[in-house]
Amino acid sequence: MQSYIIEGGYPLKGEIRVQGSKNAVLPLVAAALLNEGTTVLNGCPDISDVDKMLEIIRHFGCEAYQDRDSGTITINAASVHCEDIPEDMVRSFRGSMLFMGVMLARCGHIEMNYPGGCMIGERPVNYHLDAFREMGADVVYGKDNIVCTCKTLKGCKIALPFPSVGATENVILAAVKAVGTTMIINAAMEPEVAELCNMLCLMGADIKGIGSKIILIRKGIEKRNIRYTVMSDRIVVGTYAYAAAVTGGDISCIVNRQDIMTGISVLCKRMGIKLKYGNDYVRIISGKNITSIPYIKTEPYPGFPTDMQSQLMSVLSLGNGMSVIEESIFEKRYHIVSELLKMGADIRTEGNRAYICGVKSLKGAKLEVKDLRGGAALIIAGLAADGTTTVLDPGYIDRGYEKIADNLSELGGNIHLA
Ligand code: EPU
Repeated sequence: MQSYIIEGGYPLKGEIRVQGSKNAVLPLVAAALLNEGTTVLNGCPDISDVDKMLEIIRHFGCEAYQDRDSGTITINAASVHCEDIPEDMVRSFRGSMLFMGVMLARCGHIEMNYPGGCMIGERPVNYHLDAFREMGADVVYGKDNIVCTCKTLKGCKIALPFPSVGATENVILAAVKAVGTTMIINAAMEPEVAELCNMLCLMGADIKGIGSKIILIRKGIEKRNIRYTVMSDRIVVGTYAYAAAVTGGDISCIVNRQDIMTGISVLCKRMGIKLKYGNDYVRIISGKNITSIPYIKTEPYPGFPTDMQSQLMSVLSLGNGMSVIEESIFEKRYHIVSELLKMGADIRTEGNRAYICGVKSLKGAKLEVKDLRGGAALIIAGLAADGTTTVLDPGYIDRGYEKIADNLSELGGNIHLA
């Protein structure tokens, strides 16, 4: 098994272009299946979750070409085979769930297993299935698989019990082919959801309330040739920002959105990390010390994102006092605690709260990765630690971070894959 080997203590300095967003590009690839014209996506990250998404697209008979150097993906979905998705393709990642809304819309039928993804909680799909039922679909599910069938999807009012990102996206994907208007109440407001809406509008859909809690969707997808540039990955920017912070660094991240640090910036300031913005970059300047955070809770956008919680824990391990994190989205997102303890961190968990007492320094250790963001967090800890850190099983990290070792090395970090 390969590992990331990190020698800690090198401050990150310089400039880096940030990859396109994983959680934005996955629904965009799924949405391309609804367009009988050609969809060109620019700025796509070269990560394994995207490869898996394209594998499924091709399984449905679409043409999909990926130019890894330029980050361009070209998809032609003029003809689609209405088939079930093989189990191994579905179970390997969460993004596969989005094909349920798409295939229901395009073919009126889909049978698939439950999606996989990082084991950060139970991750049920009941909101998705309940919504499809409300839209007129016949939904039958057992222990292993789900079958959804619908002759005509009907627009309706769907009140989500929680602003689920995936359920909001799935309903939108189905609703752009439904008869009548669909209203989603309590929709997820994450910018990745807005990205999906914006691209569907380019394809001819009529969507109002983009980026808000209430979204109105009318059908209108036409055969169009479209081009869309994926937003920069806000979680990757945040990850590099924290890596800069713990190493006493000063880096600039080139991004294609100005609001990229929403939800993350407030906490940066509270920890003593300075941010400066230009038209196409955010500069991150670490403070002398990391100021502890008495209490922070993960929340749906625009709150502090759960996808930054593990990385925050690594940073606060080096804080100047006691910090408390409450994880409110995923109940099993504290996998890294056992690994940070090996490095000399002082952390205790109680239910969904973690109590982190900052220590002066961390020491290098051999660490196991159990989920994507946890893996990134351990790299951050390794960059700050004294001595050598080995982060085992990079497969998790490669699901969402493009060339993370190369990028950090370019910034002066001492990290390589071996
Ligand atoms: N939930 C339900 N029932 C459902 C759907 C969700 O109970 O039918 C619950 C979940 O168990 C969770 C909460 O609602 O407690 C939020 O889940 P959500 O549906 O918003 O998450 P997701 O769509 O499965 C996406 C991202 C995650 C990110 C979350 C929250 C993708 C592919 N994944 O997941 O990204 O953490 O939204 O922002 O977009 C990551 O990138 O590392 C990652 C895990």
